[in-house]
Amino acid sequence: MRIYENPQKTSENRLKAISFYNIGGVSETLSLNGEWDFAFFKRDIDVPDTITQWDKIEVPSCWQLKGYENPNYSNINYPYPCDPPFVPDDNPCGVYRRTINIGKKWGKIYIVFEGVASCGFLSVNGKEVGYTQGSHLRAQFDITDFVTEGENKIVVKVLKWCCGSYLESQDMFRHNGIFRDVLLLQRPIGHIEDVECIPNTKEISLKLEGKANLKVKEADKILFEGQIENEVAFAPENPVLWNAEKPFLYTIQLERAGETVTFKTGMRDIKISSKFELLVNGVSVKLHGINRHDTSKYNGWCQSETEILRDLKLMKELNINCIRTAHYPPVPRFMELCDEMGFYVICETDIETHGFARRTAGGNGYDPADNIWPCSDYAWTAEHIDRMERMVETFKNFPSVIMWSTGNESAHGCNHVEMIKWTKNRDNTRLIHCEDACRKGQIHNSDVYSMMYLGYDRIEQLAKSNDINMPVFLCEYAHAMGNGPGDLVKYQDIFDKYTKTIGGCIWEWADHVVVVDGVQKYGGDFEGELTHDGNFCCDGLVFADRSLKAGSLEAKYAFQPMRTTLEGNTLKVKNRLDFTNLNEYELCYNITVDGKEVYANKVVLDVEPHDVGEIEIDYTPVACELGAYLNVTLNKDGKEVATEQHKLECSRPETSEVEGISLTEDKLNIYAKGEGFSYTFSKHYGAFTSMVIDGKEQLADKMKISAFRAPTDNDRNIINRWANMNIWQGENLDIAFLKVYNCELVGESIVVEGSLAGVSRIPCFHYTLKVTISEKGVVQMELKAKVRENAVFLPRLGFEIPLVETSKEFTYFGRGPVENYCDMYHYAPVSLYNSDVDSEYVEYVRPQEHGNHTETRKLEIGNMEIYSDKAFEINVSNYSIEELYKANHTDELKKDSKVHLRVDYKVTGIGSNSCGPEISEEFRLKEKDIDFKFYIAPKKG
Ligand code: GAL
Ligand code: MG
Repeated sequence: MRIYENPQKTSENRLKAISFYNIGGVSETLSLNGEWDFAFFKRDIDVPDTITQWDKIEVPSCWQLKGYENPNYSNINYPYPCDPPFVPDDNPCGVYRRTINIGKKWGKIYIVFEGVASCGFLSVNGKEVGYTQGSHLRAQFDITDFVTEGENKIVVKVLKWCCGSYLESQDMFRHNGIFRDVLLLQRPIGHIEDVECIPNTKEISLKLEGKANLKVKEADKILFEGQIENEVAFAPENPVLWNAEKPFLYTIQLERAGETVTFKTGMRDIKISSKFELLVNGVSVKLHGINRHDTSKYNGWCQSETEILRDLKLMKELNINCIRTAHYPPVPRFMELCDEMGFYVICETDIETHGFARRTAGGNGYDPADNIWPCSDYAWTAEHIDRMERMVETFKNFPSVIMWSTGNESAHGCNHVEMIKWTKNRDNTRLIHCEDACRKGQIHNSDVYSMMYLGYDRIEQLAKSNDINMPVFLCEYAHAMGNGPGDLVKYQDIFDKYTKTIGGCIWEWADHVVVVDGVQKYGGDFEGELTHDGNFCCDGLVFADRSLKAGSLEAKYAFQPMRTTLEGNTLKVKNRLDFTNLNEYELCYNITVDGKEVYANKVVLDVEPHDVGEIEIDYTPVACELGAYLNVTLNKDGKEVATEQHKLECSRPETSEVEGISLTEDKLNIYAKGEGFSYTFSKHYGAFTSMVIDGKEQLADKMKISAFRAPTDNDRNIINRWANMNIWQGENLDIAFLKVYNCELVGESIVVEGSLAGVSRIPCFHYTLKVTISEKGVVQMELKAKVRENAVFLPRLGFEIPLVETSKEFTYFGRGPVENYCDMYHYAPVSLYNSDVDSEYVEYVRPQEHGNHTETRKLEIGNMEIYSDKAFEINVSNYSIEELYKANHTDELKKDSKVHLRVDYKVTGIGSNSCGPEISEEFRLKEKDIDFKFYIAPKKG
C-alpha cells in the first residue's frame, strides 16, 4: 500500500504538534520562502534525486498559478473518482529543491511547513526524512541528524492528491504546492517544547515540561518574574480582560538555555448561560461573523501578511467581530492578529468530505450509517483525530479562539464523536462546533446548534423551541454571491430579538478568482476542468481586490454598534456593543431638507453597553419639495462606524394633475408640440419614440415597458421561473413581447391598452397606459397593470428609457450614492446626489443587475426631469438588460452608445437565494394591481 493512500498513516517522522510561539534569544529562524528549483511531472516520480531538468518557482505559491496545470474550481465534486482511499494512478507531482547554508550547527534544527497540498515527502541531502499530509496544518520535522555545516540540499516532493484529499473537498479552487511559509529553526538542545496557557478571567495558568524562567507583562509592567517548573498559575491583581472590542493581551516570556519563547495571552472565559446565550466574560455576545477562506486575488491560497492584515482591518471597519476559519485552520500569524485586533474565532479544522454526497448518480446525501463516509469508518479515525489534534495543539493558547470546529460538510459519524471526545478532554474551555451534528440531529455531540442558510421562520422556530437547549448559531447564512446579500438586516433583527440566537457568519468573506489578462475568471474558464461549479466561488462580501460593494456596506450596517429609533422628537440610541460605552464615539446628527443641511450637531453620549440613550431633536415640520430627514452617524477617529436615517414630517405639495393640451395625430403617431418641446408617440408601439426638448433629442430609442432584470447571482434559483432558461418553467420575461391592442386619443390623453407576455406564454400582465401632456411639455404617465393571478413574482416593473449618449450626468433625490434595493439599502441615505452613468457601474465578476436607486422622488437627466409624488426606483447604465444578461465575464460587455435609464415602479429585492432561502415574500414584487404615476418634464432653468 502506498503511504499516501493509507488513511491510518498520516505522517512519517513529523513531530507532534505543539503550541505556537515566537522564539528568540540564541535561537535562529530563517525563512525558506523565495525561489526554489522546481520540476513538474504528470505522474508521481519515484526517485526525485535523478531529476536533471529544473525550473524555478516561488515558495510559497500554488503551482496552478505559476503555469503548471490549469486551475480547477470545484464546489462539491471530487475532481477524480470517489474510490477512497485511492487516488488516480497518474498523480501529478511537483518536486521542490533548494540548498540551505548552515553556518554553525550548535543546536536542534527543524524545518516547518505551514501548508503543503496535498502531501509532501521531505528529504535532506538525499536521505528521506519524512512525510506529511493535511494541507492546511503545520508540519514540523527534526532534521538535526540530516544536516551538516555548510551547504545542504532540501527536496520536497509534493503530490497533487493523497487519501487526505478526500477530507479536503472544500468549495474552492483545488490548488496545490507549498502554499504557505517554510521556516528553518535552530534551537538550543533541551529547549522548551509545548507550552499550555489557558487562562480564565481570574488567573493565567501555564504548563510546560521542566524548568524555565518566566516573565509576565501587562503592557510594560512586569507582573511576574521568576523560575517556574512544570506548572504555575498567577492571578493579576486587577485583571484586564480580553474581548473582541477591547482585546487586552498579556505577554508571556519564557527562557531556557538562552532561548526565549514569547507569546501573548488574554484573560477571558467562554460560557453558555442558562438562557443559552453565548457569554464572554459573563456578558451576552452576538456573533457578527463571516466565513473566511485564504484567498488572494492573484495568488490563490497564498496570502501575504499584508493581505491578511488588510482583511482584518477591513473586517473591523465593517463591524465584524467573528471569523470562522472556513474550512481549515489559518496560519499562526493570522491568529496572532485576531488576538491583537479582537475577533472571536471559530477555529475549524481541515476536514470536508462533501464530495461523498455525489458519489453515485443523483447523489446519496448524508447518511451517517453509511460507512463509505470517512466519518463513519474507523479506518479513517486517525485522519480525523490527527487533524483536530494538530489544530488544537497549535492554537490552544490563542484567546481569540472561542470554538473548536470539527470541519464542514462531512456528515456525522463515529469519527466526529472521537474528535469531540479528544478535544473536550484536551481543552474544555472552548465550545465545540460540529457542523453536521445538528443537520443529522446528533445535537448532543456539540455545544452549539449550528445550521446553515436557514430562513427567518426556521430560525425563529428554533429560537422558540423548548427542545433546543443550546445556543443557535448560523455557521453560514446570507450567501454574498454577486450583487448581495440582500437580507442581512432582517437576520440581525432576529438574532437580536432572541436570547438563544447568538448570530452567525455570512458566507463568505471574499470572491475567489483567477485573473487572466486582467479579467477575473472562475470555474469552467480553464481547459481540462473535469468538473467545475462556474462562478459559485465568486460569493464574497468584498470583491477579490477587497473593494467594497453594496452588500459589504449593508453588513457594516447590520453589525453596527448602534440602532436608533425616532419617537416624536426623541431619538433613542441603543448601544449594541458588549463592552464599550458609546461615549468613546462621537454622535453626529443633522437635518436635511430637500438634500440641504439646515441643522447639525454633535454630542458625546454616555450609554453603557446594551443600554439606550436619548437625545431631544429640535425640529418642527417645515415646508419642502422633496423630503426632510434626520441623519445620525457614530464616528471614531474621523471614521464613520454607524449610520441611521429617519424620515421627518414635512409638508410637501402634491403635484397637480396635468391639464392636457390637444394633440395631433396621423396614421402612425400622435404628436405634442409646445414651446421648447416636441414629442412623438408611436401608436404602433404604444410608446414615445422621440422627445425633443430645447432642440435636442432625448431618446436614443423608443421607451418600453418591461419586467425583466439581468439576473443577479442571487436570482440563479428563480431565474428559471422568470426567464427562458428552461422553456418548461419560466414566464420567459427575458423574451418578452409587448402587445398593443389599442392606442388612441381619448380627449386630451393618449390611452394604450396592452400586455406583456413571454415567448410561448399567456400574458403576464395587461396594462393601460394613459399619457397626458401639458402646455409646458409636462408628461403625466399613468400605468395601471393587472398581473395574472398565477404569474410568478416579477423581477421589476417599469419603463426602459434609452437616452442619447450625451445624457451621462444626472442628479437625483433618492437613496444613494451606492446602489440599493428594497432589502439592501441602510447604508444609502435619501439625499440629493450627482452622478454619471460610468460611476453607476459595479464590476461584479459575472455581469448582472446593479445600480438601482430606491426611494427616488426626482431625477434630472439630459434636458428632462422625472418625478413622482410616490417614491419610485431608477437605474442608469451603460448597458442594456440584454447585454448584462448575455455576458459571462466583464470583458464581454459592450456599450451601445445609449444611456439606459430605467424608471421603475418597484424592483424585487436581492435576497441570498444563490445558496440561502428564497427571497422573503415582503421583498418580492408580487402585487397584482399596479398603479404607477410619474411625470417627465423639460428640465427647469
Ligand atoms: C455551504 C458550504 C460552503 C460553500 C457554500 C456555498 O454549503 O459549507 O463551503 O460551499 O455552501 O457557497
Ligand atoms: Mg461543501
